[in-house]
Amino acid sequence: MAITQSPQKQSTAEGVEDDQGLSNECKDLLLSLPKEKGWRTKHIYLFQGFWCQPKEIQSILSFQRHFQAQDSDIVLSTIPKSGTTWLKALAFAIANREKYPISKKKSHPLLTSNPHDLVPFFEYKVYASSDLPDLSKFPEPRIFGTHIPFPALAEPIKNSQCKIVYICRNPFDTFVSSWMYLNKVKPDSMPMVQLEEAFEMYCNGTMGYGPFWNHMLGYWNESLKRPDKVLFLKYEEMKEDIVSHVKKLAIFLGYPFSVQEERDGVVEDLSELCSFEKMKDLEVNRSGKSIMNFENKNLFRKAEIGDWVNYLSPPMEEQLSKVLEEKLSASGLTFKAAKRP
Ligand code: A3P
Repeated sequence: MAITQSPQKQSTAEGVEDDQGLSNECKDLLLSLPKEKGWRTKHIYLFQGFWCQPKEIQSILSFQRHFQAQDSDIVLSTIPKSGTTWLKALAFAIANREKYPISKKKSHPLLTSNPHDLVPFFEYKVYASSDLPDLSKFPEPRIFGTHIPFPALAEPIKNSQCKIVYICRNPFDTFVSSWMYLNKVKPDSMPMVQLEEAFEMYCNGTMGYGPFWNHMLGYWNESLKRPDKVLFLKYEEMKEDIVSHVKKLAIFLGYPFSVQEERDGVVEDLSELCSFEKMKDLEVNRSGKSIMNFENKNLFRKAEIGDWVNYLSPPMEEQLSKVLEEKLSASGLTFKAAKRP
């Protein structure tokens, strides 16, 4: 991987790009970090072992310094484009169903709000503009989303019993989903990143919160070590059998379905409420905006398993398969639809 070392400290005007709205501390830090070409910002930086954008670094530092986890907290973690929106909807609906019953006849916050507004990201919302956000009025249970890799998340949460759920998706589909999404939300001033170039960056690990294999392995290994603390889910398996995964998720989070709820079809209704087909067509998701003022409609594309075959050539398949073999085969972590049918 070609890592460009940033220059020694120099005047901020010429030394640091992408630095609007950053603290001096963060600008100074950027000058000391390796950097690479970014997709949505001019550069991404290698910070605590993962690649991310300047503003994310600032928010993550605030989170690491100030967040205090409570035992009842729920943290939903993903690498981008792995099913974050879906997981947020499911966890919110499960944990809040006493307050917001699941019924086809009743209104529900998920019908009028995007999941990212109901379950905020640490790095894009909670700590995006303040070091010390007031979390006292945050509704219980507090549910947060994040893309922060496990080691960087571990310190603020290590003394609590809070639960972490990770959703992981086949890297082939995750890559295609990321490429499609980032080209839609990139600023007009940035050129479009061509598929081949983006693919090289992905395979080198230089993509937001990557390398993706380290991100996955951090949570995978922790879920094996502490299954009561970290639940590791796979997107493809959830698509194949959402009902049993919703039950599993509810038990893990401490909100199991009662026999009566199961008899009444609550699990099926909740699964349908959070389904791609249902969510994609809601007005709020067709015309609203949420994370960083991006249009919600871009969060809902195809939600298919194996769609990557329509974008990646056989040599690209071979290249990414080699990366998976090299980086993940020893871990036991495997993926469905990671081969051309
Ligand atoms: P595609 O681009 O392959 O369609 P994230 O939520 O992490 O940003 O991931 C986005 C991916 O999840 C997109 O994949 C999107 O279509 C899919 N997705 C969004 N909502 C979903 C849902 N309710 N169920 C399943 N997949 C969903």
